Amino acid sequence: MAQLTGKVAWVTGAGSGIGEASALALASEGAAVVLTGRRTEALETVRAKIESKGGSAHVQAGDLMQSATAQRIAAWIQQTLGRLDILVNNAGLNIGQRAWGELTFEGADHVLGANLNNPFYCVIAALPLMRAQRGGVMIHTASWAGRYSSALTGPAYNAAKHGVVAMSETINMTECVHGIRSCALCPGEVATPILEKRPNPVSAEERARMVQAEDCADLIRYIACLPPHVCINEVLISPTWNRFYTAQLQQRL
Ligand SMILES: NC(=O)c1ccc[n+]([C@@H]2O[C@H](COP(=O)([O-])OP(=O)(O)OC[C@H]3O[C@@H](n4cnc5c(N)ncnc54)[C@H](OP(=O)(O)O)[C@@H]3O)[C@@H](O)[C@H]2O)c1
Repeated sequence: MAQLTGKVAWVTGAGSGIGEASALALASEGAAVVLTGRRTEALETVRAKIESKGGSAHVQAGDLMQSATAQRIAAWIQQTLGRLDILVNNAGLNIGQRAWGELTFEGADHVLGANLNNPFYCVIAALPLMRAQRGGVMIHTASWAGRYSSALTGPAYNAAKHGVVAMSETINMTECVHGIRSCALCPGEVATPILEKRPNPVSAEERARMVQAEDCADLIRYIACLPPHVCINEVLISPTWNRFYTAQLQQRL
């Protein structure tokens, strides 16, 4: 039996990759899913996929680097759906010119805006709804880079994702007494469209060895279905063939 029937989930970055797979997974558990991203067309495609399987989805597009977008969508959820049980705070991006020496002011604003400001805005917008109903679960897609900085992911992305991990912990520190649970999901490399922005192209063989979007979605579905007295604070998930490790092994040889 579906475990999330009657629940409402807001998934950001739902038009592709981990967000799309999570939206499909949560909808298959019976949740009504609100889909956010900047590209309406991509979100409509996901909505159609969910509805073709008998699920319920709503498109609420917008740029989450603007706090007004998060406010507007949370207000829409409250007015239209009346509750918010699950926030998959997942939208994010990276840029090609990410290394010190080539990072611009605009690039830093873009990466920090999309990966740190945006998840903060969504938490601030979602919290009053969850507090009012004395419960809810937030799952933030941080990153392996939120635990271990790497040259590959770049300084702004590393800093933003470390910030998301800290943000999630602070939510548990105060919101646990309101029945709210927060999880920082820290994936290593996942084969999604974000890889197209890598300075070095990633081959099909390398992508096949990575974690897949559906693997993350399955984990997100699991966390969302846990009973209210259980909080998974943080999860680190990586490919078995972990290139952050294999690169070090090659250096040693
Ligand atoms: N793939 C990996 O190796 C990996 C590893 C660790 C963590 N992550 C994180 O996982 C999350 C999902 O990424 P993904 O790998 O699934 O890549 P993806 O397919 O590129 O998904 C990112 C999504 O975020 C949306 N988005 C980006 N900026 C936005 C904004 N300002 N406002 C609203 N939506 C925005 C994008 O849609 P629009 O362009 O339509 O807005 C896109 O659908 C990101 O936070 C990423 O940093 C990925």
